[in-house]
Amino acid sequence: MTKKASAIANSNIALVKYWGKRNEDLILPYNSSISVTLDKIYTHTTVEFSENLKRDILIINDKEIDTQDSEYEEYVGRFLKKLRELYPNKAKNLNAKIVSKNNFPTAAGLASSASGFAALALACNEALELNLSKKELSILARLGSGSACRSIYGGFVEWKKGIFEDGRDSYAEQIATKEHWPDFRIIICITSSKEKKIKSRAGMKQTVLTSPFYKAWLETIEDDIRLVKKGIIEKDFKLVGSVAELNCLKMHSTMITTKPPIIYWNGATIEIINLVLRLREEGIECYFTIDAGPQVKILCLEEFVKDIVERVKEMDEIENIIITSPGDDAKVTNEHLF
Ligand code: PMV
Repeated sequence: MTKKASAIANSNIALVKYWGKRNEDLILPYNSSISVTLDKIYTHTTVEFSENLKRDILIINDKEIDTQDSEYEEYVGRFLKKLRELYPNKAKNLNAKIVSKNNFPTAAGLASSASGFAALALACNEALELNLSKKELSILARLGSGSACRSIYGGFVEWKKGIFEDGRDSYAEQIATKEHWPDFRIIICITSSKEKKIKSRAGMKQTVLTSPFYKAWLETIEDDIRLVKKGIIEKDFKLVGSVAELNCLKMHSTMITTKPPIIYWNGATIEIINLVLRLREEGIECYFTIDAGPQVKILCLEEFVKDIVERVKEMDEIENIIITSPGDDAKVTNEHLF
């Protein structure tokens, strides 16, 4: 028996960040988060389950990944194990071949785990005929990588942290479609294409264990969620941007104060932060947000994109600029990669 299917999922950027797990095995967060799904940046994945395969095979961007590797075990290996535990009748005795391609360079320093696991979850659902609802798909994607549960949906998305220990209420829901706010823009400024030193999984664990500011992070997060959600629904750009920017700075404050400190920024990251503050003084409404890496994402409305990009291009250290808008839901495709 051979079952093959393919899916495409867009990446997302958090406006209110997920940082810290209450359950590492089930990837359950301490806090809810909100993101915008990005068009243009996506992962395309084909998966085949077959009795004829001797072992699982994973190929990412044309490179075969060693399944003995600890990183494989921590990410895709772990995901397949969970899938087989959850759906033994469908997946238990079948090995998988997974071929995955990011349409952005992996070394661009952009997170591929969100789009990657959302595409994988959807492709597995299709190939194994699991018939999962969007909620169940979001939960499955979450078991690969937390932020992936949000990439099942397009537009603006909330991942509700949930309270149950088995994670059944920890999944994403759409706040608004991309059509709700079509002129919202996210300008991605690549400041370094080097691989990041500390993966978010290890970074957030260290933060929860050692940062004296982690408690403060959790104390204000519900207000951030409420305000960003209100801002999205009312299309109040100033509210969304200002709360997202402060939320990003609060997350990085918890990282900087871990033992040993985790500093993801480089010199160019700080240059762009300062540029964004200057642009605002000049009346160009824009805000920044930064994930677990040195790249800066500038949030703005379409009317200011040209001015902002011109100013960012004047900086020597910028390797690449990608202008993105709110993107689509993850979707099944008939285009197979093998
Ligand atoms: O889902 P992960 O393990 O890639 O973690 C994502 C962490 C941040 O990107 C920093 C925040 C977020 O909510 O996406």
